[in-house]
Amino acid sequence: MITGNFPNLRLRRSRKNDWSRRLIAENNLSPSDFILPVFLTNGKNKKQSISSMPGVYRYSLDKLSLVIDKALKLKLPMIALFPYTNKIDKNKFGTEALNEDNLVCKALKLIKKKYRNEIGVMCDVALDPYTSHGQDGLVKNKYVLNDETVEILIKQSLLQAQMGCDVIAPSDMMDGRIGGIRKSLDKNGYKMTQILSYAVKYSSSFYGPFRDAVGSKNILKGNKKNYQMDFRNSDEALREVALDIKEGADMVMVKPGMPYLDIIKSVKEKFKIPVFAYQVSGEYTLLSNAINKGFITNDAILESLISFKRSGANAIVSYYADKIDKILD
Ligand code: PBG
Repeated sequence: MITGNFPNLRLRRSRKNDWSRRLIAENNLSPSDFILPVFLTNGKNKKQSISSMPGVYRYSLDKLSLVIDKALKLKLPMIALFPYTNKIDKNKFGTEALNEDNLVCKALKLIKKKYRNEIGVMCDVALDPYTSHGQDGLVKNKYVLNDETVEILIKQSLLQAQMGCDVIAPSDMMDGRIGGIRKSLDKNGYKMTQILSYAVKYSSSFYGPFRDAVGSKNILKGNKKNYQMDFRNSDEALREVALDIKEGADMVMVKPGMPYLDIIKSVKEKFKIPVFAYQVSGEYTLLSNAINKGFITNDAILESLISFKRSGANAIVSYYADKIDKILD
């Protein structure tokens, strides 16, 4: 790449003025780039703060329109639902996941009745909000069983589709679940329901605040290393994506976000499919705490979000999505 020589060429010429910097900007953000995670809780009249995530709340169903109206106003294309499940509703099989009156199902019915197709709704497929041990699947001798778990995830996905979910998002990292889910959706008349696979999900310490938000933090026994990916690996990430595309994934997610920009970039370059990044709870809390303490300025948020676009992400799941008007301003 020949771009010229100093002093004929001075790259700083184009950086001198704001209008010029805007003209040559290679990446930009708009609200259409964002997916907003929404935490649900039982009860009435609740907008509960979450101690480990400043500025993020759990909403009871009667308060849900607060956050959805906001998302619509900002023109966010989609929200992602995550339930806080009461302890009494959890057991080692995670059966609450298949209860058609669980929080997610009730929320889906309500949202689709009130908002129709004005906003997309995506749901996590995994058992961790519902199991008494906090793992994403069935556990036997400390091992998370694959095929037995997939059978349940297929049912969980179908139930979500029946309740009106637009985008089924398996975040469990079991092998073969995308194919199983696609087949069952098609067989049951949901051939247009999309699948966003968390194809590359690393076993990460950055999920801590999320586990607090959904109430699985203090009950989680051990870690998730026998199913989520090892963060020392990147070739393996490409194999995961290749498999999920073959099995029918419409879009794939890389998660967490900022420590894995290299993965986003190589997935995008290799497969040319929609790739989403998840700026996870730990990233959000780190940034927000540092800003709240005055150690870094607000601009750090925009900088972190642009990095996802630069690496090739089509969209970003972020707890900042409902504050995006102020961030882009
Ligand atoms: C559960 C799930 C997790 C997240 C999204 N879905 C946590 C986990 O795997 O333990 C994390 C999101 C975040 O940290 O913001 N399958």
